Amino acid sequence: MSLVSLQGVGKTYRGRTGAWEAVRDFSLDLDDGEFFCLLGTSGCGKTTVLNMVAGFEQPSAGRILLGGAPVDRPGADRGVVFQGHDSLYEWLTALDNIGFGLRLRGMGRRERRAKAEHYLHMVGLTGQGAKHPSELSGGMKQRIQIARALANDPRILLMDEPFGALDAMTRAVLQGELSRIWAETRKTVLFITHDIEEAVALATRVGVMKRGPGGTLKAVVPVDLPFPRERTSDAFMAAFRSVHALIHDEIHGAH
Ligand SMILES: Nc1ncnc2c1ncn2[C@@H]1O[C@H](COP(=O)(O)OP(=O)(O)O)[C@@H](O)[C@H]1O
Ligand SMILES: [Mg+2]
Repeated sequence: MSLVSLQGVGKTYRGRTGAWEAVRDFSLDLDDGEFFCLLGTSGCGKTTVLNMVAGFEQPSAGRILLGGAPVDRPGADRGVVFQGHDSLYEWLTALDNIGFGLRLRGMGRRERRAKAEHYLHMVGLTGQGAKHPSELSGGMKQRIQIARALANDPRILLMDEPFGALDAMTRAVLQGELSRIWAETRKTVLFITHDIEEAVALATRVGVMKRGPGGTLKAVVPVDLPFPRERTSDAFMAAFRSVHALIHDEIHGAH
């Protein structure tokens, strides 16, 4: 049985200006332990898909199962990492941000602190736990978000363009770190991006979306390259080209 199953999922937003069919007939099964990158152009419905898996939005058609049970609300079994870092609490230290969900679940102070320290270390921020978000760089804040999501030990990490706002070099560093963390934890990841290189660097499979209205999954490409990935290798470039060929039409307007 797959960990997450999206079955003929559709989403139509209804507002004052009418209805907009963002996603249509989207079907995908995610296996336990895989790193799935959902790749698509801006507005194709990536965030909509992630928000439905997260339980923030309800599908208008089809259904989503997590471990065989329907998703109908957000839950601690799904750890979400957002593109911006506004979701960190400014008044809490880095360590207390990481431990926030554990506190909600009633974990004692000492155990919570030890767990938070563990994940702080995992994301490469040992010794920075007393700082507040305003004292951290954008890259550090994204590391804290990742640590916070992992600390709750979710069944799946949902990441919506988490490195999209970072400069190119910081982004490459964080991609490497995330890849290492994934290899260590084998946590299932659904990672959204519009960056082909990022998808090929991280994913075990890349799903390419077709743009909307009625955005849907166009193709799924396995990326069978060892980690850590060598971006200048011929095999990497070949994988890049095959994904690029699929998304080319989406960028340039042909359907
Ligand atoms: N809350 C909403 N109400 C109405 N339309 C929305 C809403 N959220 C997204 N959309 C529309 O749905 C489409 C897909 O959006 P989104 O999932 O955010 O795309 P992506 O993340 O791929 O850029 C876009 O056309 C967007 O304008
Ligand atoms: Mg989006």
